[in-house]
Amino acid sequence: MKQSGVHGKNYQNTTHLTTSKILLLITLTLITLTVIPLYFPFHKFPSLSSTTHSSTSPATTTLPHHPLITVDDNHYKCDVFSGEWVPNPEAPYYHNTTCWAIHEHQNCQKYGRPDSDFMKWRWKPDECDLPIFNPYQFLEIVRDKSLAFVGDSVGRNHMQSLICMLSRVEYPIDISTTKDDDFKRWYYVSYNFTMATYWSPFLVKFDQPDTDGPTHTGVFSLYLDEFDKKWTNHIDEFNYLVINGGHWFSRPSFYYENHRVVGCKFCQLENVTDYPMTFGYRRALRTAYKAIMSRKQFKGVTFLRTFAPMHFEGGDWNGGGDCIRKKPFKSNEIRLEGSNLELYLAQMEEFDKALKKANENGLKFRLMDITQPMLLRPDGHPSKYGHWPNENVTLYNDCVHWCLPGPIDTWSDFLLHMLKMEGRITAQEKLVNQRKRKIAS
Ligand SMILES: *[C@@H]1O[C@H](CO)[C@@H](O)[C@H](O)[C@H]1NC(C)=O
Ligand SMILES: *[C@@H]1O[C@H](CO)[C@@H](O)[C@H](O)[C@H]1NC(C)=O
Ligand SMILES: *[C@@H]1O[C@H](CO)[C@@H](O)[C@H](O)[C@H]1NC(C)=O
Ligand SMILES: *[C@@H]1O[C@H](CO)[C@@H](O)[C@H](O)[C@H]1NC(C)=O
Repeated sequence: MKQSGVHGKNYQNTTHLTTSKILLLITLTLITLTVIPLYFPFHKFPSLSSTTHSSTSPATTTLPHHPLITVDDNHYKCDVFSGEWVPNPEAPYYHNTTCWAIHEHQNCQKYGRPDSDFMKWRWKPDECDLPIFNPYQFLEIVRDKSLAFVGDSVGRNHMQSLICMLSRVEYPIDISTTKDDDFKRWYYVSYNFTMATYWSPFLVKFDQPDTDGPTHTGVFSLYLDEFDKKWTNHIDEFNYLVINGGHWFSRPSFYYENHRVVGCKFCQLENVTDYPMTFGYRRALRTAYKAIMSRKQFKGVTFLRTFAPMHFEGGDWNGGGDCIRKKPFKSNEIRLEGSNLELYLAQMEEFDKALKKANENGLKFRLMDITQPMLLRPDGHPSKYGHWPNENVTLYNDCVHWCLPGPIDTWSDFLLHMLKMEGRITAQEKLVNQRKRKIAS
């Protein structure tokens, strides 16, 4: 199932072809794919300006600027999401002094995190290599395009990491249409590339009738069958959507369907059925996918970025739990379990169902399955270094978000890889259609 997100749609209209023609078709396709690398035209790259880049930015000089973007057959077959973290002395690729996009609570260096080894790892898939993010290639691929992050604060964390990873080439300008930081819009002038973020922690319509509640994190009303129009009204504007969600579903909530309360999560009321968090999560995902599929104009690619596990040890987030490990796990040292596993399975099953429908409708749904890689990174969270020691914050030890620079930078490696694959899938679709027309005529 892990691989399902990266395959293109199947070609079922070939029944009129004879077997020998199909064989010829497959052979031609394979030969052509093997010899033609994907090529993105070489545009003038903006030069690195010394005013925006401090001398501490280490990798600037070693970056290959060549625009030839290839995905070989090995990559096409490889499951890039299963592997191990291996040392990478060259990382990180930016610092808090060279990138202004780091969120206050993820600026771990600023708040005195003493170690930096957690920045110095890269992801090594078992069956192939995952190249380190190349910002020139990324911007070349997304030239004249637009990408939206939809979801919670870990999605915002991801976007800020991407801005920092791209900062070696260019910083975006702020073209937000609102003062609300939850809805930012960034524009890369030289590349005509727009990147936006939509705050939608439950992916569906919600409000917060009580700001306190039994866990002092508020009580929410989730309208599980209603679109969150703050983002769903804008779907058509984007070429790429990166959707995420999960963590917020553990909060006390009332579940509404058809405008009526159908249950709750930890509301402690006798007359309302208490459901596990996956009840709300599954329905919310279904509604989010339905919203995307309902947009007839939308021809873009939807990435589900699977949720990143939290790493509280020795207690819950509000019960003294913390994350103080200093290095990654090996894959045989930890397994997904408990509520992490439940969330993951719910997410996979709902994605799988949506993928079938998407394929029928010619929509592109892809799985960015970072759960396992991030499960192995208990060392990458801010812990107590997301604020000053004497500050009164709700999440004192943060084992949910990720320090910048840090392991979340690897998500850009995955994203770039998937965009390259997308290019290859599109090239393959075009090629096969051409061949079909040729042989049929
Ligand atoms: C960056 O981190 C250093 C510690 O390494 C800290 O002294 C400084 O205040 C931070 N700067 C910014 C702009 O966050
Ligand atoms: C910028 O990109 C948009 C699509 O996102 C396109 O419609 C527009 O023509 C592009 N502008 C320029 C100047 O190329
Ligand atoms: C449950 O009971 C409370 C008070 O007893 C009432 O206000 C509420 O409407 C009831 N909820 C449902 C879903 O019946
Ligand atoms: C921290 O803030 C909460 C609510 O914002 C307040 O109830 C509590 O008294 C504060 N604690 C301290 C030590 O200031």
